[in-house]
Amino acid sequence: MNKPRILVARAIFPETIARLEQHFEVEHNQPDEIWSRQQLADRLKDKAGAFTTGSERIDAQVLDAAPGLKIVANMAVGYNNFDVDAMTAHGVLATNAPDVLTETTADFGFALLMATARRIAEGEHFLRAGKWDRWSYDMLAGTDVHGSTLGILGMGRIGQAIARRGAHGFGMKVIYHNRSRLRPEQEAEVKARYVDKEELLKTADHLVLVLPYSPSSHHAIGARELALMKPTANLINIARGGIVDDAALADALRERRIAAAGLDVFEGEPKVHPALLTVPNVVLTPHIASATMPTRLAMADLAADNLIGFLVHGKPLTPLNPE
Ligand code: DGY
Repeated sequence: MNKPRILVARAIFPETIARLEQHFEVEHNQPDEIWSRQQLADRLKDKAGAFTTGSERIDAQVLDAAPGLKIVANMAVGYNNFDVDAMTAHGVLATNAPDVLTETTADFGFALLMATARRIAEGEHFLRAGKWDRWSYDMLAGTDVHGSTLGILGMGRIGQAIARRGAHGFGMKVIYHNRSRLRPEQEAEVKARYVDKEELLKTADHLVLVLPYSPSSHHAIGARELALMKPTANLINIARGGIVDDAALADALRERRIAAAGLDVFEGEPKVHPALLTVPNVVLTPHIASATMPTRLAMADLAADNLIGFLVHGKPLTPLNPE
């Protein structure tokens, strides 16, 4: 019997490809070419399944060109590259890769928080530039992390993992805002207190964004929200670009209306708003919060398991379409 044909839209681990090849005829973008939407659509024409990362937009236009497509498996927990309604309407299953990256991403969120608060990147640039010629009382003095107030916007699995690190590891007071409140026993476990968004913005010493991107979270942090934050506060975004208005943030940083920011995600990435590149009090990283080899392999395996689970055994592991 012919094996179902699938597309792997980006270069991924050879061992994941080998697993997929046991079940499917695989077209793999091994050279990791950047395809136009038309090139992606053309390659999906004869496929039953696709393996995507967060970079490939799957919407009605692409789906119209792929009548045999049954499933698209994202190697990411975030799935704002999917139009899930259009996928459901076209009878295409959408899956993501939750859980396997939670702790790794929370580690990175904390690393970025620490690097930002304690001005680690600025210090490194200062030293390499040969500017370090003496000790001085306020040289690169930053913000304390221990004992401070950690604010978390978005309290899913990653938000809770960050709360745990802050409360249990650093003695931070944790406050959060989310669409829905955690159950009392969950709040007790992560030692976090629910507050409204305004109190979160006004009170946090370090505000970490971990909410999913959707039209309703577009520019959830813009000029108005930044104006509510303390001038000593740090803002950390490990969620998605587009949640922060990067131009407004660059202004706030330049004018020291907030102390600093740590950003792993950007609107329109891999492009970065040019104004952010000119302010010193921001740590910029290229969307690497989940990037450890074991975690990336686990994410790839989960996406592959979804394809195998659905196309071979009729049961996906982490479906996203509404029932
Ligand atoms: C995710 O899983 O959504 C990450 O942002 C991709 O690394």
